[in-house]
Amino acid sequence: MKILVIGAGVAGLAVGWRLAEAGQEVLILERGQPGRGATWASAGMLAVTAELQNSHPDEIEFARYSNALWPNFAKQIEDLSGQNIGFAPHGALILAEDAITLAGLERQIVQPDSELVGADRVREIAPLVTAGIAGGLWSPHEAWVDNQRLALALAAAFHKSGGRVLANEAVVRIERDGGRAVAVRTPFGLYPADAIILAAGAWSGLVEPAVAPVVPVKGQMILLTPPPGQSPPAAVIWGNGIYAVPRGRALAIGATVEAVGFDTALTDEGRDGLRHAAEGLMPTLKNWTLSDHWAGLRPRSPDGLPLLGPTAVDGLWLASGQYRNGILFAPAVAETLCNQVLGRASVIPAFDPRRFAA
Ligand code: GLY
Repeated sequence: MKILVIGAGVAGLAVGWRLAEAGQEVLILERGQPGRGATWASAGMLAVTAELQNSHPDEIEFARYSNALWPNFAKQIEDLSGQNIGFAPHGALILAEDAITLAGLERQIVQPDSELVGADRVREIAPLVTAGIAGGLWSPHEAWVDNQRLALALAAAFHKSGGRVLANEAVVRIERDGGRAVAVRTPFGLYPADAIILAAGAWSGLVEPAVAPVVPVKGQMILLTPPPGQSPPAAVIWGNGIYAVPRGRALAIGATVEAVGFDTALTDEGRDGLRHAAEGLMPTLKNWTLSDHWAGLRPRSPDGLPLLGPTAVDGLWLASGQYRNGILFAPAVAETLCNQVLGRASVIPAFDPRRFAA
């Protein structure tokens, strides 16, 4: 089968890779450069505990499943690409300021090895954290990856498996024949295909016909670099409305949540708000240097759940709406959609893109 994927972010590359491995002819059309959208801008967390609070049970199950796939997914990418993606299962700590909040964190446990810990243990895990903390929810094996290295290595793995990417090809329309999707049109050409997968993140909704009701949700992040003699915690730390993720010898702090369309402008308010919150949690960060500030666009569906599976247009599939979990969900998105396109798996009802079709 000739399969065309729209979007070379982590989702498009991963599903394209799985399909290429399964012997399909896969071409990805990317509006910019591969892996340089939300995949590049993200924090790289596999935040199965913190990000899935109060989520739909099917999304929690999907997150746990994808999290379990991650170690092997990372190894396969590294083996095939020959590149290290910095898979780091060094834990995540969600902080609680008081005893009531700490007790409430028990309800968020989704991993068997997670546990509530007191202030003394918090100080061992994250010595930079302020003294006014009652404890936290500690998930010792929760991981993150270097999302930028992941983007490059995944693109290399896809190429090694026989897939091709065309950059700077923004798909504007999916052409149909008798109601079936048969080709995609860009300003530069017409690309016929037997199956088409729309995996264009926050840009998925711009393609005609409109089958992906996603909106962009901007997230700004900053990078703080320590003075000599200091280093970031090894674990991801959540508290005071922010998260802090180690990145090399620096610390990435995120993120704002802004519904401002496709505007990715960096704001003083965003930067200072993140820095202030991070310093409230880890006072010594006042002495760290602000060394970067960036923004990305998360793709959010109307109910916040993924859009994964067939659309109302025959031959057109969707892998979008991952919202805050694009990196975590990538292995399960790839496996699920690959199997669906090849007729080996059924649709997850809560994620069925056709739930919004009416
Ligand atoms: N998962 C991190 C974020 O969306 O900000």
